Amino acid sequence: MTAVKNGVKAVKKATLISFAVVALAPLASAVPPGTADDIRERLKPAGTLCRAGDDCGTATAAAASGPLSGEQVYNQFCFACHASGVSGAPILGDADQWAPRVAKGMEALMDSTLNGLNAMPAKGTCATCSDEELQAAVEHMLPES
Ligand code: HEC
Repeated sequence: MTAVKNGVKAVKKATLISFAVVALAPLASAVPPGTADDIRERLKPAGTLCRAGDDCGTATAAAASGPLSGEQVYNQFCFACHASGVSGAPILGDADQWAPRVAKGMEALMDSTLNGLNAMPAKGTCATCSDEELQAAVEHMLPES
């Protein structure tokens, strides 16, 4: 008799637990995918220190695969600031933020990119990028016209 009672209790407990799991599961899955990555991305330092003479991990990659596309350069180097607007960096594809800069002309934009401008570091931290790779990255960030 007690064995049966205990058995019933155990079943009730198990039902309760599985109810809790079922009830809480939607809460866990309500968090949009990629959120942990987004947070990790936001916690990353704005730039990386790369001293003259260091290859900073880019030289071998560039040598192996030829010139990087604008998107690749953006994703590796410019993204850190230009995805979220760190220190006022114009955000990728934001027409309002880019309009006054585009008005200066590509030559002026490339001048800022190569030499830096206020909080914008020279070559956008891609010391090993060619001018062509950097210009492709600038074009990648400009809004579609
Ligand atoms: C450490 C942060 C940071 C990184 C990394 C960075 N930028 Fe910037 N960038 C800025 C900031 C801040 C500004 C705004 C500067 C200002 O107007 O005072 C800016 C502005 C610019 C501008 C506009 C310049 C102008 O004359 O108006 C261009 C073009 C640009 N960045 C290109 C790039 C490219 C290309 C890369 C990647 C290769 C890159 N940036 C990486 C912070 C960054």
